[in-house]
Amino acid sequence: MNTQLLRETTQELLADHKGLLAMDESTETCNKRFAKIGIAQTEEARRAYRELIITTPGLNESISGVILYDETIRQKQKDGTPFLKVLSNAKILTGIKVDTGVKDLAGHPEEKITEGLDGLRGRLAEYFEMGARFAKWRAVIAIGERIPSRGCIEANAQALARYAALCQEIGLVPIVEPEVLMEGEHTLERCGELSEKVLRMIFEALYGQRVMLEGILLKPNMILPGTSSYKQVTVEEVANATLRCLLRTVPAAVPGIAFLSGGQSAELASARLNALNLKFQSRLPWVLTFSFARAIQQPALEIWHGTSENVSEAQKALYHRATCNRAARRGEYTA
Ligand code: 13P
Repeated sequence: MNTQLLRETTQELLADHKGLLAMDESTETCNKRFAKIGIAQTEEARRAYRELIITTPGLNESISGVILYDETIRQKQKDGTPFLKVLSNAKILTGIKVDTGVKDLAGHPEEKITEGLDGLRGRLAEYFEMGARFAKWRAVIAIGERIPSRGCIEANAQALARYAALCQEIGLVPIVEPEVLMEGEHTLERCGELSEKVLRMIFEALYGQRVMLEGILLKPNMILPGTSSYKQVTVEEVANATLRCLLRTVPAAVPGIAFLSGGQSAELASARLNALNLKFQSRLPWVLTFSFARAIQQPALEIWHGTSENVSEAQKALYHRATCNRAARRGEYTA
C-alpha cells in the first residue's frame, strides 16, 4: 500500500479550506434531475452540463476535488480537451464513483444494499491509470418504523470496508459514504441514534479489513429530523447533534469529514456546516468540510436549463455556492 500517496491525497483534498464537489450522478439520476425541469435527457446534454461545471471560472478557489461518474470521466470539452485534462490544468483532483448503485436487499423489505464489488479491483486500476486519485462508494440507510435492521447496516458496512481496502491497495483515497436518509417522520434524536450505530459498525468493519484511517475521508449525513417530522429544529441544534454523533464514533486518525447535503437547501447546508465550524473548530480532531452535489449544483442547474446562453449565469451561481461553502469551512458564511 502506498501510504505516502494516500496521505498526500487526503491532505491535498483538505487544504486551504476547500471542499469537494460531487458531480457523479449516475446517468439515471442525472436524467431524473434533468427531466424534473424539462432538460433533454441525452448524453450530449449531460456532457454539456458537466463541461459547464468544470469550466466555471475560479472553481479551484474553493474546490479541491470533483467526483465524476464513469461516463463523465471519459468525456471531453466541446473543443476536444478531455475533462481529466481540464481538471488537472486547474489543479483539481479527480475522484470517481465506483459503486454500481443500490439494489433491494434480499430478505429485508424496504432496505437497500450497494453493489459493485465484483471486478472492482480491475476497475480501480483503470481509473488510477487514467489519473483519478480518490473514489466514492455510497451506502444508503433508510429510517422507518422497523428499519434499519442490523443485517442491512452490517451488509453495507462490510461492502464499504471491502471497497475501501481495495482503493487503498491501488493508491486511491476511498471516500466512505454512509448516508442515513432524511426522508421520513423521525426526529433529530432518532437520526442521531441510528447514525451513531451505523458509524460504529462502519469503523468496526474498516478495522476488520485493515483500512488505514489516515488515508480515508468520511462522507456522512448531518444529523437532521426527517423531512416529514413534526418537530423541525434550529441550525444550532443540528450542529450540536451532528458533533455529538461524530465525536462518539469517528476516530481522531481520520483526517477529514466531508458532509453530503442529502436534499437540504443550498443555504441550509452552508449555514449548518458554518455553525459546526464556528462553534467547535478548536475542539475537533478532524477537518469538517463539504462534498455536496445538490447543495452546490441545484441553483446553477435551474439557471442553465439546458440552454447555452445561460452558461455564464449558471457558472456564477455555481461559483457563488462553492465560495459560500469555503466560507462555511472557516465559520465565516453569511447567507
Ligand atoms: P448530495 O450532496 O446531493 O446529497 O450528494 C452527495 C453525494 O455525493 C451523494 O452520493
